[in-house]
Parts: sequence; structure tokens; C-alpha cells
Amino acid sequence: MADPSPLLPVSNSLEPSYSPVPEGAVSAGCPATRLRRSKKVLIAVFSGLLFVSLILATINNNNGGRHVRYHSQEDEDASWATPKEMAKPETLSPAGSRGVSAGVSEKANVNLKGAQVKDYPWNNSMLSWQRTAFHFQPEENWMNDPNGPLYYKGWYHFFYQYNPHAAVWGDIVWGHAVSKDLIHWLHLPLAMVADKWYDKNGVWTGSATILPDGKIVMLYTGSTNESVQVQNLAYPADHDDPLLLKWVKYSGNPVLVPPPGIGAKDFRDPTTAWKTSEGKWRIIIGSKINKTGIALVYDTEDFINYELLSGILHGVPKTGMWECVDFYPVSKTGQNGLDTSVNGPQVKHVIKTSLDDDRHDYYALGTYADKVGKWYPDNPEIDVGIGIRYDYGIFYASKTFYDQSKGRRVLWGWIGESDSEVADVKKGWASLQVCFMSCKMA
Ligand SMILES: *[C@@H]1O[C@H](CO)[C@@H](O)[C@H](O)[C@H]1NC(C)=O
Ligand SMILES: *[C@@H]1O[C@H](CO)[C@@H](O)[C@H](O)[C@H]1NC(C)=O
Ligand SMILES: *[C@@H]1O[C@H](CO)[C@@H](O)[C@H](O)[C@H]1NC(C)=O
Repeated sequence: MADPSPLLPVSNSLEPSYSPVPEGAVSAGCPATRLRRSKKVLIAVFSGLLFVSLILATINNNNGGRHVRYHSQEDEDASWATPKEMAKPETLSPAGSRGVSAGVSEKANVNLKGAQVKDYPWNNSMLSWQRTAFHFQPEENWMNDPNGPLYYKGWYHFFYQYNPHAAVWGDIVWGHAVSKDLIHWLHLPLAMVADKWYDKNGVWTGSATILPDGKIVMLYTGSTNESVQVQNLAYPADHDDPLLLKWVKYSGNPVLVPPPGIGAKDFRDPTTAWKTSEGKWRIIIGSKINKTGIALVYDTEDFINYELLSGILHGVPKTGMWECVDFYPVSKTGQNGLDTSVNGPQVKHVIKTSLDDDRHDYYALGTYADKVGKWYPDNPEIDVGIGIRYDYGIFYASKTFYDQSKGRRVLWGWIGESDSEVADVKKGWASLQVCFMSCKMA
């Protein structure tokens, strides 16, 4: 449901609709991925993230606090006084839940929830210098989760949860940008907009899989016209286009709906697929049963028909809804990143979950059992969701991808910043992304 806030105009002017889906455009029964068994060690712990987000938080806090001084009667004529029109501090109304009513998490300034925050009367030009020179940002407006990152024909593609209409969460579609170096970005038209009944309430988070023939499939969560979370299939209209400008939504969408026992609003964020030993593709999707966070497992041969495995990949009591699950192998013996399908005795598997209840990204190392579709933590005391995190600042909804051009695994993560919504609206933008290209044991 669209938030009734005036900050969130619900647009009826959606982008042009998509061309019809060519029959059989998604290749079925792809040849098995050749599993590469690297002998080199890879031990992955992402470090340094804390530093970055602390810096960002500090910058914002400093800016928010440094100049704040409010008028009193005696101050009226003081030479330092700010102009009259700036003298009335705004009061931020208790931050409303922007995502929760629609079935996704609170995406806005949870720390300020309920607080009567005095906000300095910034204007956009005063704040524009705060834009980052290094971290990815859209040109304007709201951004959250990274989506479907991949490398294709010489370009890094980055898609992201985007509100084209305002600097607050809402009207979510897929923004799109490309880069040669992950630093300098070319902003492209929206990749996907909310133009179908199965994603009318939002084109939500998803992941890319590159098939052995080089073709790309994208699986993403749509919030339907009835706010049910379903999984949809999309793919590039033209695989010869290195910029992947046009995306086609499969005519048979949705390809997955919440299975029995799973809440209509507890079924989201499909992962990149990997190959099973049987030669099928496998994905996981985050969910919960009561307060136990879980990852559901599906096998597919064609990305259209799916089989739900009995049991779950893994679950942890009292962790609540698992958002944006990520699952990938790391080498015990090498320094390089591994393709998501790599498995074997030289490999450990990382599972990462973004906990909706506390807004942090937790991960754990463990062993993946391909035959039964299960994962076991190395140390149950620091199981996923109750142990270690990628980062201890403002960092959420992260996602990795395998960069086949450099043999490395790259991590993207959303930094929501600590600014108030009022400041975000005045800035005209909210959030940035961090990208980590080198993952080594700390
Ligand atoms: C923003 O505020 C500064 C400081 O008061 C002022 O100089 C500037 O003209 C303002 N810019 C806009 C666009 O209002
Ligand atoms: C949602 O869309 C489906 C498919 O077009 C339709 O059958 C259903 O009636 C719609 N529901 C509402 C509430 O509009
Ligand atoms: C979820 O909680 C309800 C109410 O406490 C209980 O009846 C049900 O068995 C629980 N479901 C599972 C799968 O544990």
C-alpha cells in the first residue's frame, strides 16, 4: 500500500510498458556449470566497513549539530543570529512506518522514531556538498537495497531500490547505473517499473544469475496489487546490448507465490542461483515462521517451474524475518573469490541475512550439504543472526556477486545514513552504497 504521506505522491504516469515476452526466451535445461575447484584459500570476513559507516555517520552528525543554535528573545539582534526565516526549528514528526504497512521493513530513520528531533533549517544548496565523491548515489531521491549486481560485456551493472519521486521510501522501482571501475558511474533509465499487477505495489529486491551461455536471468520480489509478496522473472530484451537498457518481464509471472504456512508478506528477496550436483539451479528466499527466521530452498531447471525442497536451508529461532539472504562459497585454500556454484571439500559456505527486526547484516561460516539442501554452522554459538555482523554501523540489505572478470567476490551494501527525513527531503536525496572489492580475513 502506498503511504498516504504527501511526501509520497503516488504516480500514475508509469514508464512505457514492456514488449511482449518471446516464447522460450529463457533457455531451459542449461548445460551444467563447470564447477571450478580452486585450490587457493579464501577466508572471507569483510572488514573496514565499520570505519566507513562511522565516518559517514560522524560527518552527518557533525553537520547536523555544529551550527544548531536557536533563537531566543535576547538573541534577536545578535550579529551571529541566523536569518529570521531560518529561526524556526522544524520538528520532525515521529517517523511513521513507511515500509511496514506494505509488508517490508522500516526503511527510514528508526533511531529517530518517536523522538522530537529539532532539525536545522538546511536548504539544498547548503547540503549539496555532502554528496559523496566515491560512494555510489543516484542523482537524486531515495535509494535502498542493492539489486542484481553483475558484470557483463565490460560493464559493472548496479540496480537499486529507488523512489523516483521523493527522497523518502515509497513507489519503489529499479534504478540502474553502469561503471567500468565501480567508481565512476553512468546513470541509466529505470530498469523496471511497477507496471504489472504482480509488482504494482513495488518492484522489490532481486538477484541476477548468469547462465553458462552468458544469458542473464533476474529474479525479483514483486508486491502485488493485493500486497502479496511473489517472485518474478525478468531478463534483458537484448543480450547484445552491453548496457542492458531494456528488461522484459516474463509473461507467466509470478513464478513463485508464498507456499502454505508462509505469510503473504513474509516471502522476499530471491538470491542468485547456483548449480546443484544434480545439475539443477537452486535459490533461497528469506522468510519466517513465527519468530524463527528461515531460508526456503527451491530447485529449478528453467527459472519458470520450481520445486520447494522439504525442510529449509537453515533457520534460527528468535531472529525474526530474514531479508536479503545471501549464500556463497569461499575457498579454504585460495585468495580468490568463487563462482556461486562452486562446491567441494575445499569450500566453506557463507550465509548472510539482514534481520528485519534489528536492521543489521549478520553472517556465519558453515558447511553446505548439496544433496539435502541444508547448511550447518561451524559454530552454533555464532550462528547467523545471533553472532557476527559484516559491519557495526549503519549498513543493511547487502548483496554479493561473483566478478568473473577479476575472479573476486564483490559486496554491495546500503548505507541509510543518520540524517532525519526532513534533512533528506531538503537535500533531495537519501542513502548511498558501499562496495567492497577485496574480502580478506581480518
Ligand atoms: C541556502 O541558504 C544559504 C544560507 O542562508 C543562502 O545563502 C542560500 O541562498 C540558500 N539557497 C537557496 C537555494 O535557498
Ligand atoms: C489484482 O490483479 C489480479 C490479476 O489481474 C486480479 O484478478 C485481481 O482482481 C486484482 N485485485 C485487486 C484488488 O484489484
Ligand atoms: C507458531 O505459533 C503458534 C502460536 O503460538 C503455534 O500454534 C504454532 O504451532 C507455531 N508454528 C510453528 C511452525 O512453530
